[in-house]
Amino acid sequence: MDKNFVSKRMKIIDLKKEEFFIEQYVNLRNSYVKLLLTLPVNISETKEWLKRNDIEIRGLAQDNVLLGVVILYLSRDGEIAFFAKQVNKRIGSRLLKIIKEVAKEKKLKFIWAWVLKDNFIAQRVFEKNGFVRGEISERIYNKKEYRGIIFRRVLRKQGLSK
Ligand SMILES: CC(C)(COP(=O)(O)OP(=O)(O)OC[C@H]1O[C@@H](n2cnc3c(N)ncnc32)[C@H](O)[C@@H]1OP(=O)(O)O)[C@@H](O)C(=O)NCCC(=O)NCCS
Repeated sequence: MDKNFVSKRMKIIDLKKEEFFIEQYVNLRNSYVKLLLTLPVNISETKEWLKRNDIEIRGLAQDNVLLGVVILYLSRDGEIAFFAKQVNKRIGSRLLKIIKEVAKEKKLKFIWAWVLKDNFIAQRVFEKNGFVRGEISERIYNKKEYRGIIFRRVLRKQGLSK
């Protein structure tokens, strides 16, 4: 993978292999439950979750600080979710490039994300990284309906040889 987009002091980590970062991951993820439409998780359940074969998860770290994380859900047709410790520092864009390469290695044809309609920063990051804005769809969370926008990025054209 071309890693030039990651600065020298930053490293790409696989959360499944780097237990040191799990606590930071849990804290970071739990700080965004409203944007991700999920419930908070704890460390022990996260350790179990990380054993699953149908997820890939990568982080960016610098000096043992977790700067951001991106998750690829293989059993959800290549859905991704990502979040950064500090916004507007290009961490999100770097994470999207990292997960694109992971998805290509997994031979996925596309990756996609569902973004809350008023999450303008995430929408901007998807669009500037080659994702195409698609249809609006609803998700039910905690008995409430939320409107979101689907963003897709094609990785491999249908019908091309592998
Ligand atoms: C979404 C997220 C991962 C993006 O990471 P990031 O490191 O902030 O992204 P980048 O720095 O690469 O890009 C941010 C872009 O948003 C733009 N932006 C910032 N605030 C904005 C706003 N209110 N409206 C529109 N665009 C905005 C920035 O100007 C920048 O675009 P530019 O490069 O054209 O100037 C991060 O913001 C985050 O963790 N958000 C909370 C969790 C979340 O919403 N995750 C998405 C769920 S799928």
